[in-house]
Amino acid sequence: MSSQPKLRILLTRAEIEAKVDKLAAKIRRDYLGKHPVVVCVLKGSFVFTADLVRRLNFPLGVEFVQLSSYGRGRESSGKIKVVHGLQSPIEGRDVLVVEDIVDTGITISFLMDYLRKKKPASLKLCVLTDKPSRRQAPVTIDYLGFTVPDKFIVGYGIDWDEKFRYLPDICVLED
Ligand code: IMP
Ligand code: MG
Repeated sequence: MSSQPKLRILLTRAEIEAKVDKLAAKIRRDYLGKHPVVVCVLKGSFVFTADLVRRLNFPLGVEFVQLSSYGRGRESSGKIKVVHGLQSPIEGRDVLVVEDIVDTGITISFLMDYLRKKKPASLKLCVLTDKPSRRQAPVTIDYLGFTVPDKFIVGYGIDWDEKFRYLPDICVLED
């Protein structure tokens, strides 16, 4: 990679906004009368979660979990650890996990298993972007924003080596 990586817009801020609206409308219908806990998977999902919960606009709790999987490079190490866990119990609660991107699926399948052991009343997954071509672990996505090609993407909270999270559009990082 050169010192000045090229960025090509894949999903514009307007496309993302329209999709978040659509996802929120569906989630609002499905969680009518419930008081779910939204679990934001740090760090990449912080922008998506912030936009989504404002559009949900009903009573909910927010929890943050952080997992270590990727190192500084672009490939998952495959070894997952919880580096920041839930601050409140989720037993008997309706839990909605919000994730920025599912690639091999190793990270999110680990998290879903981890949360399932805590006996929530229900456990669903909302994912902004999915790269199904690289799947290694099976993942059921209940609410999906976009299917993306097998390219490295950044922006809208998603980073490369902690860079580019601030971009309002989702871009492909080109070599
Ligand atoms: P998985 O375990 O391979 O599914 O990896 C999921 C995690 O890897 C995501 O939550 C991201 O943190 C990171 N990741 C996977 N693909 C990309 C990408 O294209 N850009 C940035 N991060 C990615
Ligand atoms: Mg993530």
